[in-house]
Amino acid sequence: MIIVLLGPPGAGKGTQADLLSARLGIPKVATGDVLRAALRDGTRRGLEAKAYMDRGDLVPDSVILGILQDVMTSPAAKNGAILDGAVRTVPQAEGLGRMLKEIGKKVDKVLLFDVDDDELVKRLSGRTVCEGCQTPYMGREPGSICEKCGGRLVRRKDDEPEAVRNRLDVYRRQTAPVIDWYGANKMKVLRIDADAPVDKVTSRAVEALGEPGDGKRGGGSRK
Ligand code: AP5
Repeated sequence: MIIVLLGPPGAGKGTQADLLSARLGIPKVATGDVLRAALRDGTRRGLEAKAYMDRGDLVPDSVILGILQDVMTSPAAKNGAILDGAVRTVPQAEGLGRMLKEIGKKVDKVLLFDVDDDELVKRLSGRTVCEGCQTPYMGREPGSICEKCGGRLVRRKDDEPEAVRNRLDVYRRQTAPVIDWYGANKMKVLRIDADAPVDKVTSRAVEALGEPGDGKRGGGSRK
């Protein structure tokens, strides 16, 4: 199953992608993580992306489509993938659709995580992430140790207030139109109220996907 996760910065896409990946047994592909890893490794792709990412702008579609081509044709994605923030413009949605068609696949589900701006700003200003495995944390100081891999927690440069404001604006201008594009292309966008505790949001997502439930039911997703 190929699942596209949409939502503004800080909506919890990365958090939920990890949980859904463990639950559904399909890998997470987070283009933000791929780009940060490329930057750490000093590759050309990473260096090209750095200035865009630091400002909170989107990196060029050609870079993202190159990453998606590599990942989606790799053996790791043979049973599908959870695409976390990997589709942020209409040309990316179109390009992914074409690429998948060529290999006999398609996007199966699109989930949209909905959170209002005040909560997004609160989450991003309180976030630290592991510089090793990229796991996000709330309420942990930079320099603390990651529970998952023992790496060091840092603040992301694009979580500074000015970059956050730009990311929210970029989301509204460039990514929100992707929601309508999927709708116009007969793909139902499953809207999840993501302003709730993490496990509740996961239950809502699982329910919306129509996967075998976890016993918790009730009105989390809405069209
Ligand atoms: P990326 O790293 O993907 O950043 P983003 O989309 O802005 O998303 P975030 O990682 O900030 O938030 P999230 O929704 O994953 O939330 P999280 O789970 O961390 O991309 C970075 C940059 O790379 C982009 O700006 C762009 O430059 C470039 N890029 C990447 N993909 C691209 C593409 N396709 N096209 C072009 N450019 C691209 O949660 C946030 C915080 O909230 C965490 O601290 C978490 O612990 C906490 N939290 C999570 N859920 C909850 C909850 N339910 N309640 C309370 N707190 C919660």
